[in-house]
Amino acid sequence: MSAPVTTVTTVATPATAPFTPEEDLFSIAHQLFDQYRIAIFVLTGTVMTAWLYNKLWVNRKFYPSMQLMQGKTVVITGGNTGIGYETAKDLLRRGARVIIACRNMDKGRQAIRQLRWETECEEKSIRLMECDLCSFESIHNFAKLYDNEEERLDVLICNAGLAWPQYVVTKDGFNSIIQANYLGHFLLTNLLLDKLKKSRPSRIINVSSGAHKRVQSIDWFDVFTQFKNFHLLGVYASSKAFQILSTYKLKQDLLAEGVDVFSVNPGWVRTSIQSPMREAIGIYRFIIIYPMLRLLKATFAKTPKAGARTIIYCAVEPSLEHSSDLYFKNCAPARTSSFCADNKTADHLWELSAKAVGLK
Ligand SMILES: NC(=O)c1ccc[n+]([C@@H]2O[C@H](COP(=O)([O-])OP(=O)(O)OC[C@H]3O[C@@H](n4cnc5c(N)ncnc54)[C@H](OP(=O)(O)O)[C@@H]3O)[C@@H](O)[C@H]2O)c1
Repeated sequence: MSAPVTTVTTVATPATAPFTPEEDLFSIAHQLFDQYRIAIFVLTGTVMTAWLYNKLWVNRKFYPSMQLMQGKTVVITGGNTGIGYETAKDLLRRGARVIIACRNMDKGRQAIRQLRWETECEEKSIRLMECDLCSFESIHNFAKLYDNEEERLDVLICNAGLAWPQYVVTKDGFNSIIQANYLGHFLLTNLLLDKLKKSRPSRIINVSSGAHKRVQSIDWFDVFTQFKNFHLLGVYASSKAFQILSTYKLKQDLLAEGVDVFSVNPGWVRTSIQSPMREAIGIYRFIIIYPMLRLLKATFAKTPKAGARTIIYCAVEPSLEHSSDLYFKNCAPARTSSFCADNKTADHLWELSAKAVGLK
């Protein structure tokens, strides 16, 4: 007897096909999204709210006064771009004669053309003059020409600034950030002081920064060279602290002379001042920091027009005549660090600065 034949039917089961890389990525993203769903919603909501707040509130606030500036002459250092450019535009619209002091005459000429086109001001209302704050010689040349050719100086706006230098030491032997932001303006202000006094009531506005609050001491042996300052943006913070200390001293000295002196914090503004970072921080850190900074700036930073608001306020507002306030932010007096409002430190810095720029 033959054994029964059993036929085995094999049911073909589909082979488990491996995931494609795209499917892998998709499932990882899906898992991550599931896991961090709430955090992602909260973060996106916060960024969107901040962006809207900035766009609809912060960047729509301008100095509302229609106060005119006819017959007044204003000098703006670094007026060819950023906050300085927007300040120049506003003051031209108020009828002031504006002198743009800048280091690069090609950029300056381009800015003048643009300003004339945007404000439709007369040719004689605007003038371009060369002044490289990293060269004492250039500052002396500027001041001499100004003294010979210009009758008045009603408002001096020390706005030009540098955060990342192309070179560390200037030909005058100082740290380039310290010289551009502080020492150069110190010399310029002193050389133009007679003109300011003759045009009184006049004003000096030093554009500073909240970064000054990071400075709590000064190494007097390295004060203008900053060879030992290794912190990221540490030299910039020092230059801004020096600027406020000198504003503090000058304010007291000029109180009886009819020249008002103010220091302004424009806030965080979307300009090119942070741009040449790659050379300073290296390519790897740049690749990480730069896109993050772009995103943060687009969300939180002010437009240059909104950034110019407090500078314009300090240049124009009539009620600020004889004001004892030193430092302004958002068109109102604000507090500096106590370190930057100290008589002894301010006096000592002034002495050293006068020697450094050759005024003593
Ligand atoms: N943006 C912010 O978030 C921020 C925050 C706080 C304070 N601030 C202050 O606001 C001021 C204006 O900055 P910004 O943001 O408008 O920057 P920006 O767009 O980079 O403008 C800086 C201006 O300074 C000029 N400059 C630099 N070095 C100079 C030198 N050696 N001599 C003459 N001019 C020189 C630049 O000339 P070139 O065009 O030739 O480079 C430019 O015109 C600065 O004092 C800055 O410290 C800015």
